[in-house]
Amino acid sequence: MCDHCDCRELAPIGELSTEHERIGSLAALLRREVESGSPDRAAALSALQAALGPHLAKEEIGLFAQLEGRPGFAWYVEQLHGEHARARSSLLSPDAVQMSAPEVLAALDDLSEHIQTEEYDLFPASRLILDDLAWAKVAAAHDTANAHATR
Ligand SMILES: [Fe+2]
Ligand SMILES: [Fe+2]
Repeated sequence: MCDHCDCRELAPIGELSTEHERIGSLAALLRREVESGSPDRAAALSALQAALGPHLAKEEIGLFAQLEGRPGFAWYVEQLHGEHARARSSLLSPDAVQMSAPEVLAALDDLSEHIQTEEYDLFPASRLILDDLAWAKVAAAHDTANAHATR
């Protein structure tokens, strides 16, 4: 959690942070299942996928879309998109259940690092950079994503 500023007071950031907490718990569960060779690994993977897929899409149509046009942020947002693409080609891949234990653990490490970057760098930076109109657009994108997810 970002304790260095009051960025969680902004509703969309609070929402993404809450999702990060849930994804972090599901990732920790999957890690335990993989490390212990548990047969429940597929269920843990599928629970993580169900939370992670919509979360990535929400960030992309919300925060990323509002930030990428800001001076100096195109490259930064491109890196984050690249990290999402890596998650889609590993943990979210249709073949993810076939991944070896070391591959799953490496993908979970990447995901954890990505979430840290967002919590400690992206969120505080967004708070400084985005204006009220941009935040309203992020909130509207979240509403769209949430409506889509519950449909
Ligand atoms: Fe992300
Ligand atoms: Fe995220």
